[in-house]
Amino acid sequence: MQFGIDKIDFYTPNQCLDLVALAHARQVDPNKYLIGIGQKQMAVAPLDQDIVSMAANAAAQLLTPLDQAALGLLIVGTESGVDQSKASALFVHDLLDLHPNMRTLEIKEACYGATAGLQLALDFVRQHPTQKALVIASDIARYGLNSPGEVTQGAGAVAMLVSAEPQILALEEQSVYASQSTWDFWRPNYSTESFAQGKYSEEVYLSMFADLWQQASAQKLTQVDELAALLFHIPFSKMGRKALRTLETKIQPQAYQRLTKRFEASIQYGQIVGNIYTGSLYLSLISLLENDMNLQAGERIGLFSYGSGSEAELFFGTLQPDFKSQLKSAAHQALLANRTSLTMSEYEEQFKQSLVTDGSKQVVDVSDVAVRHRLTGIKGHQRQYQ
Ligand code: CAA
Repeated sequence: MQFGIDKIDFYTPNQCLDLVALAHARQVDPNKYLIGIGQKQMAVAPLDQDIVSMAANAAAQLLTPLDQAALGLLIVGTESGVDQSKASALFVHDLLDLHPNMRTLEIKEACYGATAGLQLALDFVRQHPTQKALVIASDIARYGLNSPGEVTQGAGAVAMLVSAEPQILALEEQSVYASQSTWDFWRPNYSTESFAQGKYSEEVYLSMFADLWQQASAQKLTQVDELAALLFHIPFSKMGRKALRTLETKIQPQAYQRLTKRFEASIQYGQIVGNIYTGSLYLSLISLLENDMNLQAGERIGLFSYGSGSEAELFFGTLQPDFKSQLKSAAHQALLANRTSLTMSEYEEQFKQSLVTDGSKQVVDVSDVAVRHRLTGIKGHQRQYQ
């Protein structure tokens, strides 16, 4: 029996910032952002879209009544948790109106959280093959106005249904992973913005990739001649490109060419959504599946997950016979095409808006009447959702 991703969907807010406008405002050559960083636009979350509402919006279209009945586990992976104690997954459980007899929890390890959730979910369905698990990655990447990381912000969520005999990607049990404590990116409890040692974070990412690639090769997991694509955690597309380039001298030219071509398809969505932290790797997966028309069932894909702090994992899966029928390309392309492009002043004004932290009551304006789930405000120290 095989286990893996049965269905996948994503949500990103309905507004974005053009990075050429950001470059002009910050008096930077636009090519630094477009080529040097490799990003074109970034999603900007309005105040009524937090990680809970985005997670619920990503999962809203995913589950049939039969899927819902089979759910035994719900995990939300996030760096941007909304409560020190209560799991965001419980808020999502309520918004999706799920049945009570399941385990519901949140996992945090920077951008690795959803991969931890996915691996836990795989173990769960291997033990309980008649049940299913819902894993959602949801994050808002915030570095601050005028910060070096500003151009690598973004917002969005990816929802994945994990089951036996999956329709999209069967995942292999064997993978390679590593942990080490680093201060490359972190966010203390008192801060709404992340701290990053940008160059150091790139070094750690690349060295963990090199280490895991070497381990996987030693265990004959990479088999590059057979690998149809290699997906990366994409905080910005240049980061994944740098990791891929390290393979140029290690693998056959034909294999490198194939991986490079597929890499281009995998970054198309991320380049206009921005960094969504723990969902970024899985947005790359959706982007590859929906933008490379030559992918075939039976092809094998590698996935490199990286979470600052730091944790990394390289794992593998095989595309399933019906994977194309499960894609929602038209809906995703419409979601991305219909976003409002913010002016710099609108972006900066929204960036400065925040939720109350003193226990007073707050009503949050509606940013998009068409969206299913949103934060409506705060009352009695409790977030209110619709
Ligand atoms: N035309 C073309 N390219 C240009 C250019 C121009 N006019 N001007 C500069 N560039 C190039 C530079 O040569 C450089 O390229 P290389 O990286 O290939 O050398 C690139 O643009 C970036 O320029 P800088 O080195 O000057 O960049 P910076 O100091 O402004 O910072 C950054 C870039 C470190 C990525 C910063 O945006 C940052 O700190 N981001 C947040 C941290 C991050 O995302 N780290 C990634 C790994 S950690 C992770 O993955 C977890 C996570 O999600 C956070």
